[in-house]
Amino acid sequence: MTARRLQSITPFHVMALLARARQLEAEGRSIVHMEIGEPDFDTPAPIVEAGIQALQAGRTHYTPAAGLAALREAIAGHYRQRFDAEVSPGRIIVTPGASGALQLITAALVDPGNRILMTDPGYPCNRNFVYLYGGSPVAVPVDAQQGYQLDSARLAAYWTDNTVAALIASPSNPTGAVVSRARMAELLAAVRERDGRLIVDEIYQNLYYRDKPHSALELGDDVFVINSFSKYFGMTGWRLGWLVAPEEFVAPLDILAQNLFLAAPTPAQYAALAAFEPQTLAILEQRREQFQTRRDYLLPALRSLGFDIPREPEGAFYLYADCSRFSEDSFAFTNELLEHAGVAVTPGIDFGTYEAGRHVRFAYTTSLEQLQLGVERIARFVAA
Ligand SMILES: Cc1ncc(COP(=O)(O)O)c(C=O)c1O
Repeated sequence: MTARRLQSITPFHVMALLARARQLEAEGRSIVHMEIGEPDFDTPAPIVEAGIQALQAGRTHYTPAAGLAALREAIAGHYRQRFDAEVSPGRIIVTPGASGALQLITAALVDPGNRILMTDPGYPCNRNFVYLYGGSPVAVPVDAQQGYQLDSARLAAYWTDNTVAALIASPSNPTGAVVSRARMAELLAAVRERDGRLIVDEIYQNLYYRDKPHSALELGDDVFVINSFSKYFGMTGWRLGWLVAPEEFVAPLDILAQNLFLAAPTPAQYAALAAFEPQTLAILEQRREQFQTRRDYLLPALRSLGFDIPREPEGAFYLYADCSRFSEDSFAFTNELLEHAGVAVTPGIDFGTYEAGRHVRFAYTTSLEQLQLGVERIARFVAA
């Protein structure tokens, strides 16, 4: 018998879809992949080179649990250079992906029975981390009217005595919606008033297509911020992220990290030292521009096919589209799209329950040519 908590942990439906897509490809079908939540670009060469050098130099042993001092310094430097935030490297803990950071923070904040507010739609793993520690994730429905993000009115409506934190991602997965600086300040004030904590997942922060991004760290030292080398830096498989914690949480989080992971992968940490170098950042900025070109193509193309995308996504690499003109069962719709049109997209049910049957997520993590092919195929499918 498995532990009861496993019954609450849900799979990603898109994984089954991806497996089916791969099977169809093995049978010779051509599939356009718009379901994948990671950049199609490989890790930039300077990072790969630094990783190879680290391996050849025998950097294969554990690092301190909170990460290499040099990497924590480099991350603090990133906040100083790109953002208006002075962060002491001592408050930065390097983790196995943002996933590791999310687990540490949930473990540090959630006692059995505690609640954490999060948006629906939102990143699906978050609720499962809360379940693992015996807490209750509270899905707060958000739609285009609220900019697909929490606001202080919703926070007030859903906050109860046993609520300990609100977790937001900006830009968000699956909507690409960004929380403005003013809204972030409002949320932080609302959480502070209730003696809770604000957790901000900034994993898509540097993938922006409108306003220059801000960090919640600019607003105070009492927020938890999560970030990662996965998306903007193109290092998904290296499993490396970080968190910035309020001072009083650093020592307990360090102890938790020692116990849960010992440390983040050592070669990946050495490789990531090259992530902030000018030549790497130049490559990454070119990639960001390519994502923008893709978004600028795909958004109007999908709208003209009849998908409703009321808000222009300002970041990440996703478009969250209302597909109810074609189907009220987005799960069935994504399966049909795959089988009959050869296009893979993610059903709304992977991100929550609120209006999930009416929504699908398109990821523009493939070339412009593939996106154009995908749009042609969808056009033919919905016309038929
Ligand atoms: C919003 C969000 N947070 C966290 C993660 C976890 O990323 P990683 O563990 O690769 O850093 C993802 C991955 O898709 C995500 O979309």
